[in-house]
Amino acid sequence: MSLGQFRRSLLPVVTRHSNRSALTCRMRCGDACSHDVPNTSANPYFGDILAAGISRRRVLQVGVAGGAVAAGSMLATPAAAKPKSPTDAAPGLRFEPIAPQTTDSVVIPNGYEQDVVIRWGDPLFSDAPGFDALAQTAAAQQRQFGYNNDYLGVLEIAKGQYLLLVNHEYTDEYIMFPAYDPQNPTREQVEIAWAAHGLSVVAVTGDPKGGALEPVIDHQLNRRIHTSTEFELTGPAAGHPLLQTSADATGTKVLGTLNNCSGGITPWGTWLTAEENFNQYFANANTVTDPTTAARLARYGISGGESERKWERYDSRFDLSVEPNEVNRFGWIVEVDPQDPTSTPKKRTALGRFKHEAANVRVGANGRVAAYLGDDERFDYLYKYVSDGAVDTSGTVAARANNATLLDQGTLYVARFTGNSPASEITGTGALPSDGAFDGTGEWIKLASGSTSYVAGMTAEEVYLFTRQAADAVGATKMDRPEDVEPSPNTGKVYVALTNNSKRTTADEANPRTSNKHGHVLELTETAGDVAAETFFWDLLLVCGDPNDPGTYFAGFDKSQVSPISCPDNVAFDRFGNLWIATDGNALGAHDGLYGVAVEGKYRGQVRQFLSVPNGAETCGPVVTKERVFVNVQHPGETDDATFENPTSNWPDGGSSVPRPSVVTVWRSGKNGQIGQ
Ligand code: FEO
Ligand code: CA
Ligand code: CA
Repeated sequence: MSLGQFRRSLLPVVTRHSNRSALTCRMRCGDACSHDVPNTSANPYFGDILAAGISRRRVLQVGVAGGAVAAGSMLATPAAAKPKSPTDAAPGLRFEPIAPQTTDSVVIPNGYEQDVVIRWGDPLFSDAPGFDALAQTAAAQQRQFGYNNDYLGVLEIAKGQYLLLVNHEYTDEYIMFPAYDPQNPTREQVEIAWAAHGLSVVAVTGDPKGGALEPVIDHQLNRRIHTSTEFELTGPAAGHPLLQTSADATGTKVLGTLNNCSGGITPWGTWLTAEENFNQYFANANTVTDPTTAARLARYGISGGESERKWERYDSRFDLSVEPNEVNRFGWIVEVDPQDPTSTPKKRTALGRFKHEAANVRVGANGRVAAYLGDDERFDYLYKYVSDGAVDTSGTVAARANNATLLDQGTLYVARFTGNSPASEITGTGALPSDGAFDGTGEWIKLASGSTSYVAGMTAEEVYLFTRQAADAVGATKMDRPEDVEPSPNTGKVYVALTNNSKRTTADEANPRTSNKHGHVLELTETAGDVAAETFFWDLLLVCGDPNDPGTYFAGFDKSQVSPISCPDNVAFDRFGNLWIATDGNALGAHDGLYGVAVEGKYRGQVRQFLSVPNGAETCGPVVTKERVFVNVQHPGETDDATFENPTSNWPDGGSSVPRPSVVTVWRSGKNGQIGQ
C-alpha cells in the first residue's frame, strides 16, 4: 500500500455538506459536520410571530415572482455573469467578472495583475532559514510565516508600507510533512505544528499604486505568536476556578491561541482574532464522568479519546484527563496590539466563549462600541457585545488605557429573529413569501453584563465560560453557521454570512432553505441605527447558489446578470460600501472565489466574481483598498487524494512543489488604476 493509499484509508467516511474535502473537514474543524449537532436545545428554529410595533414591510422588488414555488433545488450549469459591459456596475465593481474556475491558479479579471506576497515558511526574521519543505524545524517555523492563513488585516504604516495581520488557523500535517504517520506523529512534527499555528505580524513594502510587495525582514513590528506565546485572560471571568490549571493557579495566564479563524481591526487600532474550532485539540473527553462537565464539553463538540494531532502525547495540557480546565482557556476573542511587539495579547472573556468566527466593531453615536460575533456551527447563534464605556481616539496614553477596558466592561447579547411572513409561506425551497422578502424583526437578548447574569441558573462567569448553553436557555435563534459578521462603515447595517447547513430540516424566514447547501447573507439594521439597540430589522440580501436555481435570491437583481456564488464566509467592505464576499466550500462544482456585490442603489444584489483560488483552496481575509485587493489563499491542495509526495496543487511555486498557503495582492495593470473603476 502506498503512503497515499494508507493515508486515504485513514480518512473517515464523512458526510460533507459542501464541496469541502474530507481532509479539510478533518483538519480544520475536527469533522464537525460528521458529528451530531452539538446544539440539542429545544429552542425553536424560529418564532414566526410578528413583533408588534416594529414590523417592516419590504417593497416588492421588480422581477421577483412573489410566492412562486421553486421546483426542487436541481442545479443547471452555473451561469457566469453576463454584464452588458464591465462598467455596467456600481463604482468599485467595474471589472469584467471572471467565470467560475477549476484551475490550479489564482484567476483574476482581465486588466489586473497579481503577486504572491508571502508564503508558508517564508522568514520574518534574518535569523530564520528560508523555507525547505524537506527540512522544516520547529525553531525555524517559530520565526517563519505560519500555515493556513485565514484572517488578513492590513494597516498602512507608511507610504507603500503595510503591516499584515494574519491568523494561522490550523495545520495540515498530511501535506506538510513527508511520510507523515497520523498514528505516530513525531515530537518535531508536533512542535512544528505548534509553531505554524497562531498569528503573524509582518511588514511588507512596494509601490503604493500597485505592483509586487515584499516582506520587510526584521521590521521592528514583525512578530510571530504561536502555541508557546503567553496570553492574558481578562474581563469578568478571568481567574475563575474553571480557568485555573496546574501550570497557572491564577487562571489568567495561557500559552497560545488556537484555530484562529477570522477577526477584525478595531477603531482604536488593535486586532481582534477569533479562536474557532479549539475543541479538536483536546483529548480524552470520554474519561470525564461529571455530568455537568460532560454536558459542557458536548455542547462545544468535545468528545472522544485521542485527538487528531495527538498533541496530548507531548504536552499533557491537551489531555482532559490530566488538565480538565485547559480547554476552558480557548474559544475566546483575542485582542492584540500590533504596534507593540512586546505586548501580551488579551483573551477577552466578556465577549463569551464559543467557536468564534470573527469580531467586528462599530462605534455608536455616543462612542460606545458594539462587537458583532458569529458562532460558526450548524444551528448556533449570532451575538453582540456592547461596551459600557466610550472609545477615545485621541491617541494619548490615557486614551490607550481607556480603550483597553472597552472589551472588558460591557453587555453580551444573543440574537432572536422573527419573520413577518406566515410560516406556511416559508416552504424550505427558497421561494420568496408573498410579501416578496425574507425579512422581519429581531431582538438582542441580554446574557450577562459584568457580574450580572440574565440567565436563570447560571452565574455571569458561567455565562461567559459556557455561552452556548446560556444562549440555549434564553431561546436564541438557531442559524445556518454564522461566519463573518461585519457592520458597513458607510451605513452601519450589519452583514452576516451564513455559510450553509445541509442538516436543516425545518426552514424559518431567516434560514429559509432546508438542506441549505449554498448559504445566504443576512442584512441587519439596528433600530434607529444605534449600535446599542436591543431590537433590529433584518432581511436577506442573498440566498446563494446557481442563479438558474429558482431557490436563489440576489436582492431582486436580474439573475441573468450575476455570478453564481456558494458558501459565503469572510466579508469586507470597499471604500464605496460594496460588500466583498469570500467563499468556503463552493458546492457548485467550481473553486472558491472572491465576489463583490453592491448593497445600495440600483445595482444592489449584482454579485460579480473577481477572483478564483487554486485546487483545494479557500478564499479568506479579503481586504479591498483603493489600489489593491488582498486575499489569503488558505489550504491549497487540501484534497482527499493529496499527499506530500503527490500534491494535488503546486500553487504557488509551480513544478512539482508542495502547495503553500500564501497572501496574494491584486492591482490594476499599469499601476495607476483603482480597483473596480
Ligand atoms: Fe474557520 Fe468558520 O471558518
Ligand atoms: Ca417576509
Ligand atoms: Ca471562515
